[in-house]
Amino acid sequence: MKKEIFKPNRGFAKDARIKNMCEYQALQDAATEDYEGFWGGYAKEKIDWVTPFTNVLDESNFPFVKWFEGGKLNVSTQCIDRHLDTRKNKAAIIFEGDRGDKQIITYLDLYYNVNRFANLLKNEFDVKKGDRVVIYMPMIPEAAYAMLACARIGAIHSIVFGGFSSEALKDRIEDAEAKVVITADGAYRKDKPYMLKPVVDEALSGKTPVKKVLVVERNGEDVTWVAGRDYSYNELIKHQRVTCEPEVMDSEDPLFLLYTSGSTGQPKGVQHNSAGYILWAQMTMEWVFDVKENDTYWCTADIGWITGHTYIVYGPLAMGATTVMFEGVITHPDAGRPWRMVEEHRINQFYTAPTAIRVLHKMGEHEPAKYDLSSLKVLGTVGEPIDPPAWKWYYEKVGGSRCAIVDTYWQTETGGHIVSPLPGATPIKPGCATFPLPGIIAEVLDPQSGKKVEVGESGYLCITRPWPSMIRGVWGDEKRYKKSYFEDVKKEGKPVYFTGDGAHYDEDGYITITGRTDDVINVSGHRMGTAEVEAAIKKHSNVAEVAVVGKPHEIKGEGIFAYIVLKSDCGIADEIEEVKAINKVIQREIGNIALCDDVVFVSGLPKTRSGKIMRRILRSIAKGQEITQDISTLEDPSIVATIVTAVRSCKL
Ligand code: WT7
Repeated sequence: MKKEIFKPNRGFAKDARIKNMCEYQALQDAATEDYEGFWGGYAKEKIDWVTPFTNVLDESNFPFVKWFEGGKLNVSTQCIDRHLDTRKNKAAIIFEGDRGDKQIITYLDLYYNVNRFANLLKNEFDVKKGDRVVIYMPMIPEAAYAMLACARIGAIHSIVFGGFSSEALKDRIEDAEAKVVITADGAYRKDKPYMLKPVVDEALSGKTPVKKVLVVERNGEDVTWVAGRDYSYNELIKHQRVTCEPEVMDSEDPLFLLYTSGSTGQPKGVQHNSAGYILWAQMTMEWVFDVKENDTYWCTADIGWITGHTYIVYGPLAMGATTVMFEGVITHPDAGRPWRMVEEHRINQFYTAPTAIRVLHKMGEHEPAKYDLSSLKVLGTVGEPIDPPAWKWYYEKVGGSRCAIVDTYWQTETGGHIVSPLPGATPIKPGCATFPLPGIIAEVLDPQSGKKVEVGESGYLCITRPWPSMIRGVWGDEKRYKKSYFEDVKKEGKPVYFTGDGAHYDEDGYITITGRTDDVINVSGHRMGTAEVEAAIKKHSNVAEVAVVGKPHEIKGEGIFAYIVLKSDCGIADEIEEVKAINKVIQREIGNIALCDDVVFVSGLPKTRSGKIMRRILRSIAKGQEITQDISTLEDPSIVATIVTAVRSCKL
């Protein structure tokens, strides 16, 4: 079936940075013809270098690549200092708290706040270039100051999403050998306080590399203090000077780590370095959102995910934009909250996840009509394919059939957008990420032959040349870096970066992403490794075996479905209690984000004779599909019928 196609708004396109597909093609041709010239040109133009780079790209040691060698810069100056001449009184961050409290932070305020924060880390906590600092924070401006303060003094931040449990936090602290944790007492959600500091205390109990903890006061609830380890930000910050000399960093000095799920139980510390990352963060802000000098831009993500890093903090600030940050829940106090915020702050670009769009659609279909949304120009989505009904509602009711929807495909590892429409140029199709951005050589390849697939054929989405904001490594694990991304697909005999996603081209050459090809599921636009959830569930003493698969979910995109075999000596006395106990383990080991939507107790799992679990079968059963696969290679083919019966009779 041919998909509907929506052309860019002419009035918008006239002033857009990339105005039509010819301009897009010309940029893409320029990149293909002279890759280094293309990137070198932008790097010179966009980055405020302390010392210019001498070499654009060194890929002699691929997949360990170096961009803009010889160049020296500081990412915090790129985001703040260089704007002070022209934008010191412009709003850098507009913050709206859960209880409706507001703050407008100008670029000059940001400069002072970040410098004070940087001085605090340097002078009071002895944080030095290259040290790792874990940030476990709610969505408050201090979280952004903390990131930029690290960048200013050359420390490597590792943000852990505030929904992760103490165990998950502990793992990440230990893997990165962090010296400092920055946190808050807690924050507010749905008008109620919730706590973070106790989670940090728990994570630090026992042996830990952490020497100091900085606690920002947000909700004023009581917290326990460990003398000599815990310090109040609100106290210490008062004594800090408002200027702090930025550390001069090499292009390839690490900027941050961000842990993400993979196909093993252990999350990977994805490393991004300074120059290439900030360059692409800024360029994609300009091209994909086409933010103009007086615009107000809002991305609803949490800073705990890559979207929050690149498109709340680094990208918008690098280009000197006004970025909105919000605390709380998008549907609280009601499903009109985002639209009220769009009206009040006159928001021009709005960026969110399909999950949020589905919830807002479901809970408040008619809410957008109650607000003046005429300021909106570009709408964005990210994290998973967007389904046509949600797309249509977003396009018509939120965007007034006037705004482009940029369906941005990318990943933690890519640092910034990879495949996305350009709002003034690309005719869009619902549910389709369209074309690689200029400079990005992304192709759908056949994993066997390494050749581009034909129209309609499915293949693996690969990026066949290194790009500036590419992942630079998995922290402390070179082997895993190579194995995770560069061993599955070869093009013309050479390894290329494989995203882990399947995709295909349509008759117009548009790329549609079909989802992960590995054992990673996408819950509400966040990656969850099935192995990670399984490892957590296995910690429950009654569990003998477990297999976790994804199952389509109306709101979340995918939900988590767990098949559990209990140890023979512990028959199920009470299924509800058992499920509760399992969920408790998940909460403790990972956090609420990994709670199972379905738990079914089974007597065995479908395994091949070599002991491999056939997940395809489990996925089909979870979806309620008939089993058409060949099950004769199973050790015990009769187990399939037993599992189907268990799933059908499960009422939980
Ligand atoms: C995975 C990356 C990128 C920030 C949020 C998630 C899926 C992402 C899209 C999209 C279809 C998408 C992919 C990808 N994904 N954007 N527009 N259409 N799928 O970051 O946790 O690193 O997850 O999200 O499967 O690999 P992440």
